[in-house]
Amino acid sequence: MIDFKHEIINAIKKAVDFDISEQDLHKYIEKPKNSANGDYAFPCFSFAKQLKKSPQEIAENLKQKIKISPEYVQEIKVSGPYLNFYINKITLTQEVLNEISKNQENYGKSKIGEGKTIVIDYSAPNIAKPFHIGHLKTTVIGGALYNIYKYLGYNTIGENFLGDYGTQFGKLIEGYKRWGKDYDLTQNPIDKLGEIYKRINDLCSEDEQVLEAAREDFKQLENGKEEYVELWKKFRDVSIKEFQKIYDLLGSHFDSWKGEAFYATKTDEVIQILQESGRLVESNGAKVVDLTDEGIDTPCIICKSNGSTIYATRDLAAILYRARTYDFDKCLYVTSYEQNLHFKQIFAVAKLLGIKEKCIKGLKHVSYGMVRLPSGKMSTRAGNFVKVEDLLHETIEEAKKIIEEKNPDLSNKEEVAKKVGIGAVIFNSLATSRNKDEIFDIKAMLNFQGETGPYIQYMYVRTKSVLEKIEKRPKFEQLKLENLQDEYSIAIIKLLYDFENILVEVTEKEEPSILARYLLDLAKAYSVFYNENRIIVEDEEVKNARVYLTACVSKVLKIGANLLGIDMPNKM
Ligand code: ARG
Repeated sequence: MIDFKHEIINAIKKAVDFDISEQDLHKYIEKPKNSANGDYAFPCFSFAKQLKKSPQEIAENLKQKIKISPEYVQEIKVSGPYLNFYINKITLTQEVLNEISKNQENYGKSKIGEGKTIVIDYSAPNIAKPFHIGHLKTTVIGGALYNIYKYLGYNTIGENFLGDYGTQFGKLIEGYKRWGKDYDLTQNPIDKLGEIYKRINDLCSEDEQVLEAAREDFKQLENGKEEYVELWKKFRDVSIKEFQKIYDLLGSHFDSWKGEAFYATKTDEVIQILQESGRLVESNGAKVVDLTDEGIDTPCIICKSNGSTIYATRDLAAILYRARTYDFDKCLYVTSYEQNLHFKQIFAVAKLLGIKEKCIKGLKHVSYGMVRLPSGKMSTRAGNFVKVEDLLHETIEEAKKIIEEKNPDLSNKEEVAKKVGIGAVIFNSLATSRNKDEIFDIKAMLNFQGETGPYIQYMYVRTKSVLEKIEKRPKFEQLKLENLQDEYSIAIIKLLYDFENILVEVTEKEEPSILARYLLDLAKAYSVFYNENRIIVEDEEVKNARVYLTACVSKVLKIGANLLGIDMPNKM
């Protein structure tokens, strides 16, 4: 497709008589909020000092000098300090619709990521512990990023860094040895492992000998004692099975499940490298790397005083392993902002590991805010945490009630309710910028009229029902583009044009909310178009053009929602 912005930048560059790089121009060019001010604007105030002219004069001068084909830009206007560019809407319409007609379900797909590898570390729940609502958020954000990077041609690797290691497994083994036969782990295993853990933990705090036994069990587990490894595997397997129920509902996928236990076997090398770097120092018996020079007050502990490694050590082993195995350009860690310090520390220590500069530069913590339930809900049900799986089912149930009321004759209500319920949850997780807190309010997220997943699905269903009424779908070649030059059509066409850029922007900021907001804008623009322009009209040419545009909106809504991880129903 023609890159209008690029054409404008080239034209400005040729016209100015001062030095300015293409990159800088790229940053300066704005997209006016109000289309009355053009499609692109170039603000001139930054050059006033240098050129000793008023911004307005600079804009006037530039306007005289700029040469750009009317096929790209139909008009240039000076408005105060701004130079406003009005792109040729017929060319735009032609470009966008042609591109969609050529690429269909692959519109926006690109190769810009070719040759680059992105590791995404997300979800990562802890075995024998509940999958909490924060894990839901990383699963959804990480999954969306995964899909989008892949769509842009990156080699993308989804890693589920399971929390499957730690001294607590010594306690669990000790507890299970004592009372295991009383607990049937085929049902609600995580609750039961939680109970065993609580019981043994209480006992450990009363009885030093039990604590010692648990420590010994952990040591034996590390040394590979078969019986204990089997128990640990059992705890891991039943936990993964539980998590998988949630992943199945959400449609989550991982390429690798290497967890902390896997990396625990690789920490010796990390310690050795750090030792050799001369930066590993003793502190109260522990071995730490001091990071004050890097502006981090808290040293990074590498080995505790009893010699065992910690979470950070295993994460460092994973960085080393991933850099060697994947030679990644980016390695993204999707966790809540509570782990900010942890990632600052390990990224600083990673510089000592002797891995490639590009890998070091590519380490990035993709943090997110808290998820809150509407007041009081977080700890209901007899003091237990609300289970994520229950929340998902509750949302699906609520969706079903709404569907039953709105469309009692719908044939596959269960399936649609699942798409709508899960779509609502996923969209809610992604709709606000990731560092803002999220409210998990089932009623609000299911509002078909709100800024929600179901709203987007609803507009998609509307496009489907328009298209269903048409016997013969118009062909792109037969369209008369003059019929799509009204403001409602153009608003849509401009959005469709932006799609690929939006995806790129998501990857630049690791911010899927940009795509979520975009889909809301597109759905709203279609809603306005639909209300203002009758689609099924006498005039065949007008009808065909509007139907065609509807089909384009339909495709892009679906592609975009799917990239976020949301399934689209055809009816609802
Ligand atoms: N298991 C951790 C938790 O539940 C998250 C792990 C994130 N990934 C990582 N490589 N540290 O908080």
